[in-house]
Amino acid sequence: MSDETKPLLRVLRGETRWPPPIWLMRQAGRYLPEYREIRAKVPDFIALCTTPSLATEVTLQPIRRYRFDGAILFSDILMLPWALGHGLAYKEGEGPVLPPLRDAQGIAALRPERVADAVAPIMETVRGVRAGLAREGFNETALIGFAGGPFTVACYMVEGGGSRDFAATRVMAYREPALFGRLLEVLTEATISYLLAQIDAGAEALMLFDSWAGILSPPRFRTCVIAPTQRIVARIRQRHATIPLIGFPRLGGSMIGEYAAIGINAVGLDTSMKLAVAHHLLPANVAMQGNLDPLAVVAGGKALADETHLILRRMRGRPFVFNLGHGIVPQTPPAHVAELTDLVRAG
Ligand code: CP3
Repeated sequence: MSDETKPLLRVLRGETRWPPPIWLMRQAGRYLPEYREIRAKVPDFIALCTTPSLATEVTLQPIRRYRFDGAILFSDILMLPWALGHGLAYKEGEGPVLPPLRDAQGIAALRPERVADAVAPIMETVRGVRAGLAREGFNETALIGFAGGPFTVACYMVEGGGSRDFAATRVMAYREPALFGRLLEVLTEATISYLLAQIDAGAEALMLFDSWAGILSPPRFRTCVIAPTQRIVARIRQRHATIPLIGFPRLGGSMIGEYAAIGINAVGLDTSMKLAVAHHLLPANVAMQGNLDPLAVVAGGKALADETHLILRRMRGRPFVFNLGHGIVPQTPPAHVAELTDLVRAG
């Protein structure tokens, strides 16, 4: 089946299809016993992301169970700082830990010239997933490549890991805009090369995860989220005029209209976004993706059905990709994901 007949790609290019295509953020991961089995043998998460045979396998696991319309490359947004030579470790129960980057020396120590070699195994995974999808007969499933939004990646680098409020990052963005801008610039350029390499390896659509976009004031949202994203979109469009691009400016709220105006094909909506407001803010040719609460999938049953039907009712008649408003959580029963795909496919 050619690209043009894959439902996800058609919708991202502006077509309305019903029932809508569906895939879920973090669809590969700890809620799946077959993922936990592989993870038990590879305790180092970075090793999992850089071993093409294993990363390919875990990318395909949720497709075999649920025949999602999108397969998202198994990797992590923090593999880019890792590829830039910034330290990275994933600690059990703690999440990612990085050396906090707070000054010009920290930026000067980044090594953009290393990125292409460092991410070579991830490109091998992209090729492996395309081949695996074809071999296993998933002809309608499109492969989604991704990167973090430069702002969100910077959040983890400046802070040195996860945070409730990324206070050090926001203070740096306000107090030292030139320094913070320089970090964003290095990340933006590296992200462009990284995403172009994913297209060359076989990614059919790309998503930018800007999970912390919404913690900034509107002026800083423009300079730290919209401007870098606009540059990424323009540079990718120069080489690949029609590749679908999805942006996820999580918690972007009233700013998503300005965000969508920079030429992306689709906007990922988080759970807090009222869909009537999203309709008002986004042009009709920009697809929407979202926004079921991941905890509704944990709940299952009537609550899951009610929440899902509400979203379907609100989205009928416009280009729409069913997804969650944030990633699936580890305690999700796999059977509830099957309930969800049945509900969505029944329209
Ligand atoms: O299935 C998929 O969605 C593809 C792979 C993917 C992962 N992370 C795998 C992963 C994707 C697209 C991401 C994106 C990502 N990573 C984001 C943006 C989306 C979001 O959730 O906001 C962010 C902020 C990260 C950074 C990150 N990676 C954190 C904070 C953590 C620790 C918390 C957690 O959920 O474990 C990770 C680890 C991580 N990334 C895991 C997976 C499957 C868990 C690793 C494990 O223990 O097996």
